[in-house]
Amino acid sequence: LTSERYRVRRLPFSRLSPRDVAFFERLMPGRAVTDPEELEPFNVDWLKSVRGCSKLLLKPQTAAEVSQVLRYCSERNLAVNPQGGNTGLVGGSVPVFDEIILSTVLMSRIISFDTVSGILVCQAGCILEKLNEYLEERGFIMPLDLGAKGSCHIGGNVATNAGGLRLLRYGSLRGTVLGLEVVLADGTVLDCLASLRKDNTGYDLKQLFIGSEGTLGVITAVSILCPQKPKAVNLAFLGCQNFSQVLETFTTCRAMLGEILSAYEFMDEKCMELVEKHLKLSCPVRDSHFYVLIETSGSNSTHDEEKLNSFLEQAMASGLVTDGTVATDDKKIKMLWSLRERITEALTHDGCVYKYDISLPVGKLYDLVTDMRARLGQSAKNVVGYGHLGDGNLHLNITAESYSHSLLDAIEPFVYEWTARYNGSISAEHGLGFKKKQFIQYSKPSEAVFLMQRFKAMLDPKGILNPYKTLPSSS
Ligand code: FAD
Ligand code: MLT
Ligand code: ZN
Repeated sequence: LTSERYRVRRLPFSRLSPRDVAFFERLMPGRAVTDPEELEPFNVDWLKSVRGCSKLLLKPQTAAEVSQVLRYCSERNLAVNPQGGNTGLVGGSVPVFDEIILSTVLMSRIISFDTVSGILVCQAGCILEKLNEYLEERGFIMPLDLGAKGSCHIGGNVATNAGGLRLLRYGSLRGTVLGLEVVLADGTVLDCLASLRKDNTGYDLKQLFIGSEGTLGVITAVSILCPQKPKAVNLAFLGCQNFSQVLETFTTCRAMLGEILSAYEFMDEKCMELVEKHLKLSCPVRDSHFYVLIETSGSNSTHDEEKLNSFLEQAMASGLVTDGTVATDDKKIKMLWSLRERITEALTHDGCVYKYDISLPVGKLYDLVTDMRARLGQSAKNVVGYGHLGDGNLHLNITAESYSHSLLDAIEPFVYEWTARYNGSISAEHGLGFKKKQFIQYSKPSEAVFLMQRFKAMLDPKGILNPYKTLPSSS
């Protein structure tokens, strides 16, 4: 049981009564779900590592409905778990006990798109990949991309401040999100859905909700700035023999590719073994200890190819890179991206996964993997490292045949202490959710945590929004 493994007690929220259910059925006929079978997938996270036992799933269609739900829940002291595509990796997206699940699955309307400014306004439940397809038809793309694009919702992306595969080029959602509509815990609808590049009227309240993981309000609509669809995209998938070469290849390509560089991802040989073994993907590059994926996006294919080729010539001639392949056509580009994007999926086939998402000074990035491997020895099945190297973001993952307390104790708090020693962050992009919230002090001073708790108390005095998540419990 989740609550037992994590030693957490249910807070004194009200229990759902038949009268509550009747209220919600009247409010949204056919969209207040109590059937246990239909509820099941909403109660379990993507990793199948945590499970709640909610008895009610609500599927609102409008901000007005979300407002009515929250006003009622606030008056009745019922806890609520906002949920998007349920692809979160830190246990934040599913209830811990019997919280009502408030899903944005039916809030998938595009409200407007301005082809001059590139500003998209849509409801929070739009699926990231669908938005990208909509934009591509109009000559634009979403400023973020991630492996879970086929399921995750834009509201969930904003709530977690998701990073992903394009951050290096287009920056974080803290820059591209221009406005939000948010429903507060008491049902107040906060309309900050501005579609302006510049707006310095008072505090920038939307920033509070970006990355707040459903603990401060429910995001119901998003206004986001989208870049032009690049006319030319090239990919290079390269093999390096050691991590210093991975780093030097990065500095070289940054210098030589300049403004057209749009991704620099890395994975180690263990990751490659796993995607080959579990997903039957095949690597076109000769066996190497590390692989890097370099993407360029620009407006002139001849110019971009020339730049990429001279970079590759230099990287090969100087021995930084031992083997590699390039792609310009869509099919091969997708195939090469899947080697990197599908590591997460391959890991789930390898056994129980212990996931860490760490920001570090880029030069130290791989030392954590090496140290962890040495520390765990035979007690782990695989210790792998991959991630968004260009953003200084390591994904350290450890697999074992099954869950064990002793392995977890060998990993934590070692991994957090190691990270803190180098002034890193224990969550670069996935958030703290349920699994990491007790470790926030490794990355934030107590004064900052205290201020966060005061914001929480002000915006959600009864603590009904995603309890047990993000902020440490006081006892
Ligand atoms: P959910 O999982 O449903 O929810 C996540 C959190 O946000 C929860 O705390 C939930 O309560 C809250 N929430 C959801 N919707 C709302 C809302 N409308 N209002 C308020 N709170 C809300 N993450 C990255 O950052 N980068 C990656 O590259 C990346 N790749 C991934 C690849 C795979 C294969 C998978 C499975 C996950 C990946 N993730 C990545 C993690 C995950 O996809 C992201 O965190 C994503 O942004 C979550 O969106 P979601 O709609 O699934 O949200
Ligand atoms: C990724 O970059 O692949 C995602 O953040 C998911 C993961 O960490 O496995
Ligand atoms: Zn990632």
